[in-house]
Amino acid sequence: MQAKNPKDSRTILTDLVLPSETNPLNNLFGGELLARMDRAASIAARRHSRRIVVTASVNNVAFNKAIPLGSVVTVEAAVSRAFKSSMEIFIDVWVEDRESGKRSRANEAIYTFVAVDETGTPVNVPELNPETELEIERYEAALRRKQLSLVLAGKMKPKDATELKALFE
Ligand SMILES: CC(C)(COP(=O)(O)OP(=O)(O)OC[C@H]1O[C@@H](n2cnc3c(N)ncnc32)[C@H](O)[C@@H]1OP(=O)(O)O)[C@@H](O)C(=O)NCCC(=O)NCCS
Repeated sequence: MQAKNPKDSRTILTDLVLPSETNPLNNLFGGELLARMDRAASIAARRHSRRIVVTASVNNVAFNKAIPLGSVVTVEAAVSRAFKSSMEIFIDVWVEDRESGKRSRANEAIYTFVAVDETGTPVNVPELNPETELEIERYEAALRRKQLSLVLAGKMKPKDATELKALFE
């Protein structure tokens, strides 16, 4: 399988915040943003693997900034590392200023998707070659995040999370 670059999977979804998608403070409802991020991440995982993909875990979501009604929101997702069957997807959320058109970073999230066959059995995916400084930084940290996610899910013993443990030594 030929290795791919993050730009091969980059997926950009731009949409408005409508009244039915807001909370009582007239800001974007968190669940709506999670769904938009899941959709973008799923397309990115599919573009990388060209297989059926399922969400395995949501590793990190930071709702740093409220997004008001009427905003133009862009969700940008790309594979940040591929393992055997799993892929880490890094998602950046941007909000566009109405007058200047300038984009500012509102939120970010990290999802893990697994490529599966028609029976739901995990299958191998192509490797990822990061290119830019940011892509390399995200690629390197992804292994620690995978280990943390597996430890929290009870699927890995803390003593086996070598790269994660090294952070505390
Ligand atoms: C995701 C799923 C395929 C994993 O199946 P599994 O039996 O745990 O399979 P494995 O143990 O072989 O793990 C497969 C890969 O997933 C990774 N994985 C599993 N659980 C994970 C977690 N909590 N966090 C990060 N990675 C995880 C494993 O590390 C492995 O990665 P690798 O092949 O790249 O090394 C299975 O749990 C599933 O189908 N879940 C439901 C998915 C779904 O329906 N999502 C929509 C939400 S409703």
